[in-house]
Amino acid sequence: MRRQWMAAVAVTVAGLLALTACGDGGGDGATQSPQADAKKKVEVFSWWTGPGEADGLKAMKEIFEKQNAGLEFFDAAVAGGSGDKARALLTTKLQAQTPPDTFQGHAGAELQGYIKAGQLEPLNFLYDELKLKDVFPQQLIDQISVEGQVYSVPVNIHRSNVMWFNPAVLKEAGVTEVPKTIPDFVAALEKVKQKGKIPLSIGSEWTMVHLLESVLLGSLGTDAYNQLWTAGSDWSGPAMTKALDDFKTILSYAGDPADDWQPAAKQVADGEAAFNIMGDWAYGYFHNPPDGGLGKTSKTDFDWAPSPGTGGTFMWLSDSFTLPKGAPNRDGAVAWLKVAASKEGQDAFNPKKGSIPARKDADTALYTDYLADALKDWGGNKLAGSIQHGVVVNDAWRVAINEAVGLFHGDKDVAALQKALAEAAKNSGQ
Ligand code: GAL
Repeated sequence: MRRQWMAAVAVTVAGLLALTACGDGGGDGATQSPQADAKKKVEVFSWWTGPGEADGLKAMKEIFEKQNAGLEFFDAAVAGGSGDKARALLTTKLQAQTPPDTFQGHAGAELQGYIKAGQLEPLNFLYDELKLKDVFPQQLIDQISVEGQVYSVPVNIHRSNVMWFNPAVLKEAGVTEVPKTIPDFVAALEKVKQKGKIPLSIGSEWTMVHLLESVLLGSLGTDAYNQLWTAGSDWSGPAMTKALDDFKTILSYAGDPADDWQPAAKQVADGEAAFNIMGDWAYGYFHNPPDGGLGKTSKTDFDWAPSPGTGGTFMWLSDSFTLPKGAPNRDGAVAWLKVAASKEGQDAFNPKKGSIPARKDADTALYTDYLADALKDWGGNKLAGSIQHGVVVNDAWRVAINEAVGLFHGDKDVAALQKALAEAAKNSGQ
């Protein structure tokens, strides 16, 4: 625990230094070159620095700068997949009342946390001006609203429960059918192990929580999973014990943890590993040309299916952008939100990001290959919300789950994990 805490402090301090360095040039442009002085910077805070995801941000930045000649996009992204590091730093910045102009926040419980803390401006003025209530699905607007006030602009829909696999590695191991259930998955993992390849690739700690949410969904079933976030939730019963046993079994086939999700996904694309369970940002990374992605060939170098036991359910999450109270360049932030909300912005961002648009009126011709499947399933599947990516739990609850899974990775004690998860649910105050 102490090590983890110290690591978190180190990250926060490092991040603060990085941002302070950047921040000198942000906001009022006081210390910039004469050329940059002419433009007012808009500090956009995200965690999209890595291969694949940075491509999407770049595409939206280009539109923003084209449409706003007097503004300069200032990239305040903090490295680290899924934003755990970025959010730790953001908390410090918000508490110190030095917010960026706009920041990324997941629709759902995570965003509700910022709203309850009074850190965001409502955006109804923008929704009215741009008629956004007509273009976003109502169930998504509900996730970013409190008492009729809407607090963010969703830019995409990602799917969390995707199983990526390497067809050649499966073939070589004698896995003739893509596993649809957890027992079939375990049998396939065992076959790959016998062949000496990595059965399941895994990344840093958050990727294990990402795996856990897919295993819970697949083992408990969609209705029971969705009940975990309601008043009548049952974290202590035998179905949960069974799901956590499944998690233990599946995790026992994982290779050494890679540094983050990209190197773990790459093991599949390179034929070193058979499977990786990861959100569909992995598609952008696999598919984008080599200056940002891996430039791999779909269905040959990589293929996909719903994670085992979750066919027919779309475990969703949505990246959205906010207007923090006290944003130094509020007008610039609103200009960014307008691009993020627009059809043009979403259709530039999402095909690169590996996500589908939050808007209902996007140009479907742009969403081919994996993305066509995602669009179809988003329209027709049952829905479940992601844990790690902020839909069903607020940040404090997510941190408690991350800590429990981190300990479990060391001790493999299912009873202790179940107890810690039940306590996290009880103490969540959500
Ligand atoms: C998620 C985020 C995605 C992607 C992923 C990996 O939390 O919503 O857009 O960035 O993390 O970093």
